Amino acid sequence: MKKDELVSCRAVGVFDSGVGGISVLKHIRQLLPAEDLLYCADSRFAPYGNKSPEVIRERATYLANFLIAQGAKALVVACNTATAAAIEHLRGKYSLPIIGMEPAVKPAVKATKTGVVGVLATSGTLKSAQFAALLESYGQEVKIVTEACIGLVECIERGELDTPETRGLLKRYIDPLLAAGADTVVLGCTHYPFVVPLIAELAGSQITLIDTGAAVARQLRKRLEEAGLLNTGQAEGKNLFWLNRENSHELQQSTELVAKLWGGEGQVVPLPVSAKYMQEPTPEN
Ligand code: DGL
Repeated sequence: MKKDELVSCRAVGVFDSGVGGISVLKHIRQLLPAEDLLYCADSRFAPYGNKSPEVIRERATYLANFLIAQGAKALVVACNTATAAAIEHLRGKYSLPIIGMEPAVKPAVKATKTGVVGVLATSGTLKSAQFAALLESYGQEVKIVTEACIGLVECIERGELDTPETRGLLKRYIDPLLAAGADTVVLGCTHYPFVVPLIAELAGSQITLIDTGAAVARQLRKRLEEAGLLNTGQAEGKNLFWLNRENSHELQQSTELVAKLWGGEGQVVPLPVSAKYMQEPTPEN
């Protein structure tokens, strides 16, 4: 086997603060059936949304080091908050393709008919310089109203996709967007696609919801193609999940949640704690 074939056979590494990035992973699996996919859910450290950029960068570096040590040929930061806090840092450290994500404000601005776009995201994302740049670029054309959905990621991490608490929180965050006249709402956090049925019910069928997962999968395919790293084999790719939680009971709960959200084949194992993944990567990565 030639060297470049060997490299293209390696897996794509994907991570998030928790189970949310599985919403992105599903789009990747659909678009790239031959790729082996490695996913890290950093659930023990979720939510990232209320953490400092320094802490998020540290976690992102750990997860990136771990995935690269498992042989990842490319990384997807399937988290808006971690992208805002850490992607420049990661790109400065590694030479492999790294795909990030940000709230899909641009397509929402194109789609709105009322001229009002709502954005649901974490406070970390909304406070970031990247989001300020998005507002600067597109906020002149339309009105952009934002809601930091504090507490929502925690509900989803507990598997509460339609409980009174989740419903109450969502109503609190969606009502102001509707009151401002938004007809288009951006899901600016990868956890939120898992509560789309609730959001659609609360917002009404006239509201357009915009998710970034499919665009991220297309961007990944493009970057793999450009780098000659696309797996063109015929065999179905494997799926492997790592996750961390405080104790074994929580770990069991999260393992069941991953299986439910993913809904397909895949092995779930505990994410190891090791000082070696705290270290800076070696230059060849
Ligand atoms: N899925 C992450 C995102 O897209 C959630 C952030 C969090 O853990 O607060 O922003």
